[in-house]
Amino acid sequence: MVLLEIPQAVGKLEGLVFELEDCGFATLGDVKCTADVNDAFVGADWIVLLGAFPRGPGMDRSQLLAKNAGIFKSQGEAINKYAKGAKVSEDSGRDGLEGKRTLTPFLCSVKIITVGNPCNTNTAVAREAAPEVDDGNWYAMTTLDVNRAKSLYAKEAGIPVDTIGDEEVVIWGNHSSTMVVDYRSGIGDIANLAAIKQRVQNRGGEIIKARGGSSVASAANAILDTIRNILTVGKFFSAGVVSDGSYGIEKGLIFSFPVRAVEGGRTEIVKGLDVSTIRGDLDKTQEELKGEIKTVRQIFGLGEASKL
Ligand code: LMR
Repeated sequence: MVLLEIPQAVGKLEGLVFELEDCGFATLGDVKCTADVNDAFVGADWIVLLGAFPRGPGMDRSQLLAKNAGIFKSQGEAINKYAKGAKVSEDSGRDGLEGKRTLTPFLCSVKIITVGNPCNTNTAVAREAAPEVDDGNWYAMTTLDVNRAKSLYAKEAGIPVDTIGDEEVVIWGNHSSTMVVDYRSGIGDIANLAAIKQRVQNRGGEIIKARGGSSVASAANAILDTIRNILTVGKFFSAGVVSDGSYGIEKGLIFSFPVRAVEGGRTEIVKGLDVSTIRGDLDKTQEELKGEIKTVRQIFGLGEASKL
């Protein structure tokens, strides 16, 4: 495991390494700490991009975007150069005419999960900076929202959380207050469903207010869930992935969809769900995401032709 920190804080990682050791994980090998982004991703199989500038009380998303765009650009560039399977060798990996990659084995290439907010757009920024990485390898984490949607519903309905099936909750769109919390038919209707959805949408802010910082334990738990989900063939879950145009969502946007894990560490967007009752909400969260991308394009002076 390699832990990347900013130079001012890298020294403190020693404490975290002690704690990791004290957990007694049988799978924990060497842990290396670094402040050099070019060191962090060498040969990585999985990358969890946690290290965003945190949203403090009163900070809005555009301020957060400006702070984070630079961080995620440099991380994307380093992923492009050093992560496993990301870089294609010049002699064999390219189709000479179109410059398209032909030989990189998807199976053994890096998977990236962005957690730091705004996680959809941070993923888009890193992806723009990492053209060698397959589109199918990028994930913005919305498992935490699924977990919240299940647990808050279960508490209200007075049922055990594990009686709610995977396919009964979908999170669509941006990991923000515009996210669409979609309790699918099959889950029983309860009186204050609208209030629960709103609470899920704003739960991150609720936690920040209560503890003066973003969620930590529940986010860590959701990262583990996300990795397990990706590796469990057949598993239905939600994740921010590169849109293929399904459900009327602009191609290329990092949008949370229902996905299913398939062989080889891949996931596919689940098609054909009825979204007629949430169409307006999907459009709203899509518009917010497009607005974030527009802001980031302005920050970097990028034109419409960019992949962002
Ligand atoms: C969360 O959902 O807990 C965080 O994404 C909130 C935040 O803005 O950091």
